[in-house]
Formats: sequence, C-alpha cells, structure tokens
Amino acid sequence: VKSNLEEFKESLKEIYKSRYPQILKALETQKPTTFRINLTKSTNRNIIKDLEQKGFKIKKGPIDNSYIIYHFPAKTYISDTTSFKEGFIYVQELSSMLPPTILAPKPGEIIIDMAAAPGSKTTQLADFAQNKAYIIALEKHPLRIEILRHNVKLQGAEKVKIIPADGIKYDKKNPELENYFDKVLVDAPCSSEGSFYLKDPKTYSFWKIKKRREMSSIQKGLLISGYRMLKPKGSMVYSTCTFGVEENELVLEWFLERYPEAIIKEITLPVNNTMNGIISWNNKSLNKKISKSKRILPNELFTGFFLALIEKP
Ligand SMILES: C[S@@+](CC[C@H](N)C(=O)[O-])C[C@H]1O[C@@H](n2cnc3c(N)ncnc32)[C@H](O)[C@@H]1O
Repeated sequence: VKSNLEEFKESLKEIYKSRYPQILKALETQKPTTFRINLTKSTNRNIIKDLEQKGFKIKKGPIDNSYIIYHFPAKTYISDTTSFKEGFIYVQELSSMLPPTILAPKPGEIIIDMAAAPGSKTTQLADFAQNKAYIIALEKHPLRIEILRHNVKLQGAEKVKIIPADGIKYDKKNPELENYFDKVLVDAPCSSEGSFYLKDPKTYSFWKIKKRREMSSIQKGLLISGYRMLKPKGSMVYSTCTFGVEENELVLEWFLERYPEAIIKEITLPVNNTMNGIISWNNKSLNKKISKSKRILPNELFTGFFLALIEKP
C-alpha cells in the first residue's frame, strides 16, 4: 500500500513533470516569516525602524508592501511586538498577498469576499482601498468567524460587514445581489497542498487524494455563486493554495462550460516563479482560456498557489 506521502509525490510529478525536483525541494524548505504593513492604520509610524530597534532584521519582499524577517531577536516572536499587537502589521505568506493585489480594489467599490476567515485578504483588500471600499465578508464556520472578527477589528478595517453564511447559497438567498458587486474574491477552501512542509508530517498527515474531489465541489459552488453576484465588467479572483488540477484548472473548466462568455484575464505579477494554468490533462484538452490562469510555484520564499482573474462581459 502506498503511503499518502508517496501518493502525493507521484501526483506532483504528473503535474509538474520536469519541474518536479525543484517543487519537491521547495516543499522541503521552511519559508521565512513575512508580513505586510497596515498602511491605513500605521500612518506616520516607522514600523520597520521600530522592529529593527527590537532586534528584528528585515528586508523588503518581492511584492509591494511585503517584508521578510530574516533574523529574530532571542526568545521573541513577532506576536510579542507592539506593531503586531496594535495591528500595524499583518503576518501573511507572500503568495497569500497576491489575490488582493491583482483584484486591486479602489475606494468606493463594493466587494464580496466569499470565504473570508481568518481575514488576511479581507483586511488586505480594505487597506488597499484605503478603508474606503465596502466589503462583505462571508464565512461559514462559527469559530473561524470569531477569528475573522478579531482580525478585522484589530486591523481597523472599516466598512467591512462580516456575515456568517454559506457562500454557496448566498446568491440564491439574496437574489437582489445578482450583478451587484464590483469585485469578488473566492479564496476557496482547499486541500492546502501548497503549504505542506514535508519535513513536518503534521502539515500533511490529514491529506488524502480524495480530498481534492471533495474540495472541488465546494469550490465550484462558491465560484458560480460569486460570479452570479459580480457586475458586468466587474472582476473576480479565484484562488487556492493547492496543487491538484481538480481544485484549480478543472474547476475553471467546469465553470467555463456553464459560463462560456466569462473572460479569463492575463495576470501581471511582480514575481516570476509562475507557470501558466495547465490546459492538457489526462489526455484531454481543456479550454485554452485556462492557460491565462497562473500557478505560483513554491520556492524558498513562496508557498504554492493558484490564481485566476475572471471578468464578466
Ligand atoms: C482558504 S480559507 C480563506 C482564507 C482567507 N481568505 C484569508 O485570506 O484569510 C477558506 C475559508 O472558507 C471557509 N468556508 C468553507 N466553506 C465555506 C462556505 N460554503 N461558505 C463560506 N465559507 C466557507 C472556511 O471555513 C475557511 O475559513
């Protein structure tokens, strides 16, 4: 019987082919702690200088407003600092900062985040729009709603309305929201393979190949619910932190069969550890539009991620 780790590695080989050794190496490398500054809340404070005075060594990351901690003072966590406790910074993986960056919310826009807890991207969207975008943040799981509330409050994200709800049913329960939002974020629950650290079995012991199929039905539900609520000319990001084609390109394939008019837009990213979405899988060709989606390849800084920017004509 194959172990789940062997099965995972075999499937990575099928997905990444000649890139497999580099992907495997990345999954065996621990990523540094990274954060972004809450620009709206921390005006007139020199956050980096404050942290450096405490003994942290920090350099700028590859994404706008991202920072990498490459040295910690003895016996100090970032969560011990005033900057963290006051919500002047938000600790977040670099890959996770990309979906809000490409959605690029503007002041005054009306936005829905379909799967919001713990709120990394909700609060990033709010900050990006200088706290002047109206954001609805949906979350289904009661415990996670409390974490979301805490983070939204601590980050001072204004104009965010947290709604405990199932995103999959939200469009049908609220028919007046059809074609309503300027921007939609579907940062879908997934099997989280992109964040596995293969030297720590705790990070992947829950994984089974069938998890991909289970997650894909939730992802499809969130994607079409979000798309129905998107305004014509509005844009939407679909993202996951996983590798399985079932949860990424095949979700888009299924979506495009139902909404063939949807546009998948080219994405400009500040990083080049990327690969175009896969359009040939199990001897079948997928919709060519899917090649505009992007896989973020894990490396020494980034966890694995998947991104698609969708526009409603
Ligand atoms: C990948 S996480 C979201 C991370 C979040 N966007 C962030 O950046 O902090 C997916 C979230 O979706 C929630 N979820 C799962 N099914 C859902 C559903 N049907 N409706 C709304 N939220 C759901 C999970 O509880 C989880 O908090």
